Amino acid sequence: MIRSVLMTAGPQAGHIAALWWLMFWICLAILLLVTGALLLAFWRSRGRAATIDTVPLINLDPHRERRISRVVVSCVAATVVILLVFLIASAATGHRLALLASDQALKIRLTGYRWWWKVQYPGETPAQEMVTANEIHIPTGRPVLIDAYSQDVIHSFWVAPLHGKKDLVPGHPSSIWIQADRPGRYEGQCAEFCGLQHAHMRLVVIAEPQEKFDAWLQAQSQPARQPSDPLAQHGLNVFLSGPCVLCHAIRGTEANGQVAPDLTHLASRATLAAATLPNSPGNLAGWIVDSQHVKPGNAMPANSLSAEDLQALLVYLGGLH
Ligand code: CUA
Repeated sequence: MIRSVLMTAGPQAGHIAALWWLMFWICLAILLLVTGALLLAFWRSRGRAATIDTVPLINLDPHRERRISRVVVSCVAATVVILLVFLIASAATGHRLALLASDQALKIRLTGYRWWWKVQYPGETPAQEMVTANEIHIPTGRPVLIDAYSQDVIHSFWVAPLHGKKDLVPGHPSSIWIQADRPGRYEGQCAEFCGLQHAHMRLVVIAEPQEKFDAWLQAQSQPARQPSDPLAQHGLNVFLSGPCVLCHAIRGTEANGQVAPDLTHLASRATLAAATLPNSPGNLAGWIVDSQHVKPGNAMPANSLSAEDLQALLVYLGGLH
């Protein structure tokens, strides 16, 4: 999993990293020059300390004064030039970031909730829209337009290897262009403090070749598979007769809750709880029974299920590929 700002995987992050390196090298050179000048001044003033009392307070040596003025003026001029270089470089970077816009883009709708991400891929008709959570798949080498919304408070979408941060502000839709040039898994993180579980509001962007992406989207667009064995069928009944349906949706069943992650293909996702836990039966069981222990403050209540019901539910959910 790649999460570093400097391990860039796409053009947007590349432009930002280039600006970062320019600033890094210039600032490093300034630091070395200033430190060198300071050390030189210390070294040259050795031995002068003893005579300092004998030096009159006002000792205007015209030559020395002129030299000091020249040094100060050149330092100010150099500072102005460097700041101008930074200003022009960052304006040019902003311009380059805007160049990715394209008609061929893949469009994704992203909504921040406390504390997870709803991801929607529009279909030909609204009914064909595909909904998932916390995992964004994108094809490599193709611009992706992410339309960003928030359901509650301000969140910030940040996948460092792909782009800078983009705030999700309630009532004010925003958008961001990303592109991944290399296949890979890129870790994202909410970058705006949004409450108790802000640090656990993560997501994963999975970039893959177009054919693989198309196959994924095709599979995810299907309704959930019907349970084939009695245990999984019992698990579905547990799901539908419990409070789960009030918040979660499983396409192809009566569950159509819209305020929690869509579970239609839950088993195909690598993580649970906004990319904070590996998606294993043990973690899923712990989450269902007492998610407040894992992420205190989240919207899911504790569920007391009998061992048989829980086991059946895990078998059903584990079959949702
Ligand atoms: Cu959402 Cu921090």
